[in-house]
Amino acid sequence: MKDIDEKDILPFSLEHNFWTWSAQKKVHPIPVVRSKGVFFWDESGKRYLDFNSTVMNVNIGHSDERVIQAMIDQLRELPFAGPGMATKPRALLGKRLAEITPSGLTKFLYTLGGADANENAIKLARARTGKFKILARYRSYHGATHGAAAATGDPRRTAWEPMVMPGVVHFLDPYRYRSSFHMEKPEISDAEFTRDYLRHLEEIIEYEDPATIAAVMIETVTGTNGILIPPQGYLEGVRAICDKNGLLLICDEVMSGFGRTGEWFAVDHWKVKPDIMTMAKGLTSGYAPLGAVAMTENVASTFNERVFEGGLTYNGHPVSLAAAIAVIDVMKQDGLVTRAKKMGETMEEMLTELADRHPSIGEVRSIGLFACLELVKNRKTREAISPYGRTNPAMTAFRQKCLDQGLFLYTHWQNVLILPPLIITEDELAEGVRILDSALTIVDSSISV
Ligand SMILES: Cc1ncc(COP(=O)(O)O)c(C=O)c1O
Repeated sequence: MKDIDEKDILPFSLEHNFWTWSAQKKVHPIPVVRSKGVFFWDESGKRYLDFNSTVMNVNIGHSDERVIQAMIDQLRELPFAGPGMATKPRALLGKRLAEITPSGLTKFLYTLGGADANENAIKLARARTGKFKILARYRSYHGATHGAAAATGDPRRTAWEPMVMPGVVHFLDPYRYRSSFHMEKPEISDAEFTRDYLRHLEEIIEYEDPATIAAVMIETVTGTNGILIPPQGYLEGVRAICDKNGLLLICDEVMSGFGRTGEWFAVDHWKVKPDIMTMAKGLTSGYAPLGAVAMTENVASTFNERVFEGGLTYNGHPVSLAAAIAVIDVMKQDGLVTRAKKMGETMEEMLTELADRHPSIGEVRSIGLFACLELVKNRKTREAISPYGRTNPAMTAFRQKCLDQGLFLYTHWQNVLILPPLIITEDELAEGVRILDSALTIVDSSISV
């Protein structure tokens, strides 16, 4: 874009934009001007290593020419078509998605992102079952629109309460490091741990009455709330409980999908088949806005004769669909799912080594290139470095030090998330981990032990 000097990007942007997730007087946006691979650059020429795939979405890396070209080709051929029209990218994307999603998910409804994918998932589950309650977990995020925020468990819901969508009931996450049930019994086996959390879910279902519950909705591997990986048997157990009680299972794979965990979708690790699966982010790797709701024939058939009263002007936007097709093709060509699994193991080793040197790291959790360092004041008591829902000066200083040294990453209260693009090399990982190593000294020196 030629009609603005790069040095004006920041002042002009600050003048007229209202920023999300921010106090307006306290924003410090990075004036980004270009990106390539695992890096982006600001207007001063400073390079950032992107350890968060920007918004946990640029899975294939930045500025891949193959995707850009596919989008340009689509713009030239047909820049727009209405939601009720059949187009080449619509014809092709459904086939691609059916190939990579768990068998049984055969129909795809397109949205603009993750939140509206979850909104539609809730509508579909309610329509299919004729019931209205949605059981979701406390340590979850499902999006910022009203229904998705009502399903969200964390403070991104409570900040806006009362929510307009009734019928959401929250339950506890199987979060081993902070399990209320097992504080005094940390040595409990995985099987017992899983059993206790499945019992907890069953108890809630009983109190709420299965005849009123449409679905259980979970992030398959929890994202921003700290990379919580389901313990052995948990996901299969949730599936069985849903089947027994006539509930649908909605898996939110907005963040955990598209190779992030070392499988196409996180559910693949446990071979669990949801009735509805939502996706966004990695679907286009950020090259265009797009979300999707994958559903079984059983769910879709609710609307064989009955009208699905819902839609969006930009449902199935041809350029977004073309981007998604190109992204899936790039992922296949470059073997990025397998690569994520392999590099994920390397990353886990590096992070575990980091934990040996830094007393502030309470736990490392990781699956594929989806990892988290949970920072604590005290490893024995596991007291988190920042209280639930808040940050603290040491975390703020830690993140700033990372940014100063050219490492872009996301921190969420006591958690440092690490989700680089799936194309990252071992040397690039090591570069980021060296910066983490130096910045973590700030957190170490803020704690007592
Ligand atoms: C698990 C999960 N679900 C839903 C969303 C919402 O997606 P979007 O921001 O595209 O609406 C997010 C976004 O971070 C997410 O992580």
